[in-house]
Amino acid sequence: MNVLRFSDLCAQGKAAGQRVFIRADLNVPQDDAGRITEDTRIRASLPCIEMALKAGAAVMVTSHLGRPTEGQYQPADSLAPVAARLSELLGRPVPLLQNWVDGVQVAPGGVVLLENCRLNKGEKKNDPVLAQKLAALCDIFVHDAFGTAHRAEASTYGIAQYAKLACAGPLLAAEIDAIGKALANPRRPLAAIVAGSKVSTKLTILKALADKVDQLIVGGGIANTFMLAAGLPIGKSLAEPDLLDQARAVIEAMRARGAAVPIPTDVVVAKTFAADAPATVKRAADVAADDLILDIGPETAALLAAQLKAAGTIVWNGPVGVFEFEAFSHGTETIARAIAASDAFSIAGGGDTLAAIAKYGIERDVGYISTGGGAFLEVLEGKTLPAFEILQKRAAG
Ligand code: 3PG
Repeated sequence: MNVLRFSDLCAQGKAAGQRVFIRADLNVPQDDAGRITEDTRIRASLPCIEMALKAGAAVMVTSHLGRPTEGQYQPADSLAPVAARLSELLGRPVPLLQNWVDGVQVAPGGVVLLENCRLNKGEKKNDPVLAQKLAALCDIFVHDAFGTAHRAEASTYGIAQYAKLACAGPLLAAEIDAIGKALANPRRPLAAIVAGSKVSTKLTILKALADKVDQLIVGGGIANTFMLAAGLPIGKSLAEPDLLDQARAVIEAMRARGAAVPIPTDVVVAKTFAADAPATVKRAADVAADDLILDIGPETAALLAAQLKAAGTIVWNGPVGVFEFEAFSHGTETIARAIAASDAFSIAGGGDTLAAIAKYGIERDVGYISTGGGAFLEVLEGKTLPAFEILQKRAAG
């Protein structure tokens, strides 16, 4: 991909003494007391900030946090907890600046965090006046917010249009390189796991992957719709009967290429959706009218695990069962451990997937863990994200 890379600018000494504006994605989950519960995105943003500091730049970093109302500051929308965590991780104070759009004071070798950029009026709609003001703050704009790379907002897209120099940060570059490696020229067999509650929200991904992968493993409510399409009973499980034709089309497209969508042969069911609901393993053909399918069964899990262990490349998005409930977590655990044990290059993304990876402690055994949720899915769909589109345009012209 032809984009200017910040690492190259630094290596050429072009960042020394320059005002560098880094758009990071520091949108991390917090508990009710405002404590950060998971800081992967902050840690993943450090290399870019450290690179800029080492290069002798005057460093400004900003991010969105949540989806606040523009122009209406609420304490819960503040990046203050992020500034504190960033200070700890960098081992130096990181002041948090408010009302920064019209000017930022920071000296070369220093770093400041600019308050939640979604509080600025015009951010979401990529207002050109705001974007030009942001661009005027810096000599170099660095887009390092992969998690927000599918948005075209003033601090992600407009600023890249107007800044003197616009380039990709190391995280943004690493993410696209890793997903490209998994999908563009993968070691085969290529297996993808796409799970979630609805086919409708992931239909474009399923269709895009049906052209590329050797095994398309579906899970959760998506699997229920595919089971229904395969003529199996699913009781009162979550499914989308109006999408049966689409599911059949995916199965057919895969079959025509000699590839497959493995349909569960056994499942774990309950009568209610609850952590303490008694769990029963059943043959897929024996699901009763009042059953809820909450996980794949042990036979299916073992078969899928064997396929994953033999894969050359694995793309993972979504747990295959209700893994938050112990009795229905075994399918996801088996899949997670198979991915960890496989020699395949594996790439995983999405909030629930990251939670499953953390639960089973397999972080080090996954080839690449994406910081993207929606952005990860859109890349899998084959879309060119706005971040890459504008950075390519700037590099070309
Ligand atoms: C995410 O959490 O997926 C990103 O930070 C993007 O957030 P958004 O969906 O509010 O744009």
